[in-house]
Amino acid sequence: MTFKGKRVLVTGGAGFVGSNLVDLLVEREASVIVLDDLFTGNLNNIQNYDSVEFVKGSVTDRQLTNKLVKEADYVFHLAVRNIIVSTQQPEMDFEANARGTFNILLAAKEYGIQRVIYTSSASIYGNPRYLPINEDDNISILNPYAASKFTGESYCFAYYEMFDVPISVVRYSNVYGIRQNPGNPYCGVISKFFDSALKGEPILIHGDGEQTRDFTYVGDAVDATMLAALSPKAEGQVFNVGSGKETTINDLAQMINHLCGARSKIIHIDRRDIDNIRRRVMNIEKIRHFLRWVPTINQSEGLQKTYEWLQKDSERRRFVA
Ligand SMILES: NC(=O)c1ccc[n+]([C@@H]2O[C@H](COP(=O)([O-])OP(=O)(O)OC[C@H]3O[C@@H](n4cnc5c(N)ncnc54)[C@H](O)[C@@H]3O)[C@@H](O)[C@H]2O)c1
Repeated sequence: MTFKGKRVLVTGGAGFVGSNLVDLLVEREASVIVLDDLFTGNLNNIQNYDSVEFVKGSVTDRQLTNKLVKEADYVFHLAVRNIIVSTQQPEMDFEANARGTFNILLAAKEYGIQRVIYTSSASIYGNPRYLPINEDDNISILNPYAASKFTGESYCFAYYEMFDVPISVVRYSNVYGIRQNPGNPYCGVISKFFDSALKGEPILIHGDGEQTRDFTYVGDAVDATMLAALSPKAEGQVFNVGSGKETTINDLAQMINHLCGARSKIIHIDRRDIDNIRRRVMNIEKIRHFLRWVPTINQSEGLQKTYEWLQKDSERRRFVA
């Protein structure tokens, strides 16, 4: 199966992961429509393509989602209000993440679709009791973002079971890499650390830095997402997407500082409310077994690629000047 000639709607396609996915879809000759309200997304991420149609709008707009889903063969649903919005404006988080997903599913049920792929988050596992985390481990909701992401997932499964809407869910763990914009106040820790290190400013770590995460290079995350969309075996399934490796934030800061010439001091500051997850590492055996996916970019390669991109990109260079 292939995306050649298929109409593919990517919600959140002007964002970090979404735009990397758009690159791959264009390479596979899909006809891509991006729906994005540019809340954190940026048109520069997708503007090089004649074959990509951009629609500025929100997944909360029921009429618009109906129209776009009706015309699509596949929907990759990535649009999201992030974790920081979720704590400051939980209603906005609910509307975009839960209601927005619901709108996509309503339209998919009404008009039919080959697959809806929903990008969920490891944040729904909260503080796991066991490591590595399996897909069927305990769900522990510690913030409104995890609640809205899990609500989206739950509706995906409800619509699959009750109404045969073909869905697949991928649960990403801390994605990083090219186009993760350090200028975006909601970006991930790797982007922030690079930004500080490249400016020669202190790298600030919330808490003692011994908290761990599983960092996934964006190229690997989008490969896994594409496989989940195309494989018949992935229908009605949820897959962890991660590296399967656990890294402390202290080690990460050291690695990034070293790559950038080790000019920055590493300083520990107060823990934030959202830093309440102590350890995270994903079991990625299910996706390996079902879809034959394994990550191909190890951490040092991923950090190197990110570093090179940050150095090359003229906009970033202006930003770090
Ligand atoms: N980056 C990660 O580490 C990570 C981890 C776990 C899960 N995810 C999931 O991956 C997906 C993509 O995340 P990302 O890191 O690329 O985030 P991002 O903020 O870069 O991208 C999200 C995009 O959605 C757009 N958007 C926000 N609200 C919208 C709305 N109401 N209607 C239309 N567009 C809207 C934004 O403008 C942005 O372009 C999300 O579903 C997120 O939950 C990401």
